[in-house]
Amino acid sequence: MHTAKQAKQHAKRTKHAMTGNGHSQHAGDEFEIDVRAMRERAREHLDDGAVTEDYRADRDAVVHMLNDALATELVCVLRYKRHHFMATGIHAEPVAAEFAEHAAQEQDHADRIATRIVQLGGEPDFSPDSLSSRSHAEYVTCTSLRDMIRENLVAERIAIESYREMIHYLGDRDTTTRRMLEEILSVEEEHADDMRDLLDRE
Ligand SMILES: [Fe+2]
Ligand SMILES: [Fe+2]
Repeated sequence: MHTAKQAKQHAKRTKHAMTGNGHSQHAGDEFEIDVRAMRERAREHLDDGAVTEDYRADRDAVVHMLNDALATELVCVLRYKRHHFMATGIHAEPVAAEFAEHAAQEQDHADRIATRIVQLGGEPDFSPDSLSSRSHAEYVTCTSLRDMIRENLVAERIAIESYREMIHYLGDRDTTTRRMLEEILSVEEEHADDMRDLLDRE
């Protein structure tokens, strides 16, 4: 590790070097960064991909947490798909369309979560055998439209609560993952709203 003094000298040298090769100089800028040390660190751990030394969360714990969220999203895709194809009755058409739209959005969430798991150096778990036991929400089939809507509302409320907990757990230690989860959470809140509106209309 460099001392603060060494780091400052590094920064000065880097500034001179940058002046020499025609890059912008930021003369008089307060913000100084030890570019050389940063570049060395980046080269040392190439296998870590997007994860740099200043990553402050427990990476294994975050990957595990995201894999449970991935399982939840995949189960939600399957439940909404089942409900979409099984929705019957005079009110079925708009409800079935809503189920299909939600299924597509849950799939998008699953894809984003899997992408982030890989960025963190982990492996997304798509294993069908353990899917329902790892998922927070349940796969409930139902036959009546009303039961389907109610079950989806329950699942959305579970998703909302678990995403809130994950966001709270991450805090400022992994802001990229947290931001993604916050965006997903806002869509889950819309889903819950949609299901409640449908229940009111029934
Ligand atoms: Fe979702
Ligand atoms: Fe949802």
